[in-house]
Amino acid sequence: LIAVLFLVAYLIGSIPTAVWIGKSYYGIDIRQYGSGNSGATNTFRVLGKKPGTIVMLIDMFKGWAATSLAGLLVIFNAIPADDLIVYKLIMGAIAVLGHIFPVYERFKGGKGVATLLGMMLAIHTEVALVCMVIFLIVLFTSKYVSLGSMIAALAFPMLLLLPRFHPENPILIIFGFILFAIVVLTHRKNINRLLHGEESKANISLGRKR
Ligand code: G3P
Repeated sequence: LIAVLFLVAYLIGSIPTAVWIGKSYYGIDIRQYGSGNSGATNTFRVLGKKPGTIVMLIDMFKGWAATSLAGLLVIFNAIPADDLIVYKLIMGAIAVLGHIFPVYERFKGGKGVATLLGMMLAIHTEVALVCMVIFLIVLFTSKYVSLGSMIAALAFPMLLLLPRFHPENPILIIFGFILFAIVVLTHRKNINRLLHGEESKANISLGRKR
């Protein structure tokens, strides 16, 4: 059962939402436009708010679902209940990697941020919500989605270090840092662009007309 669920987590994570929605409803390959990334951010950028939101929610759901499915392992007595958090982390991480390396699209996928957020919500809702707020603050102040994504991904393990959020099992913190490292790796090009002042800014405002 464990191997089957790991495979299911990978297949869920692999679903290339942005590519499929772009092709099915707009007749375009999202990877040919904007940043070329097959993720929610680029869908917002290229296709607009509605498809962007749909891709974001589905990609988040992938992470949430794959992580939550680990609960089946306890229900079917495949693992002791104490190990659940470890298997949630593994299955969530597999889904994030599936999103980055999708089997359906020759292993060229997105950057894993929305899927990671879904995973975080399934693992530690309170901290995940704080990370979302941090993401929004960085996004609205800097206008860089990529910067917000990376800082929010780092905030997750950092917040877990605080006594208030400290988890029973420190493996959660270790995984958090590993996932942050993965997010940094998938954002290599963004980092380069940020350093050279070439990263595209999100077209958002705080409601003030300019
Ligand atoms: O979620 C991915 C985001 O952090 C960056 O996306 O399209 O600007 O490279 P993009």
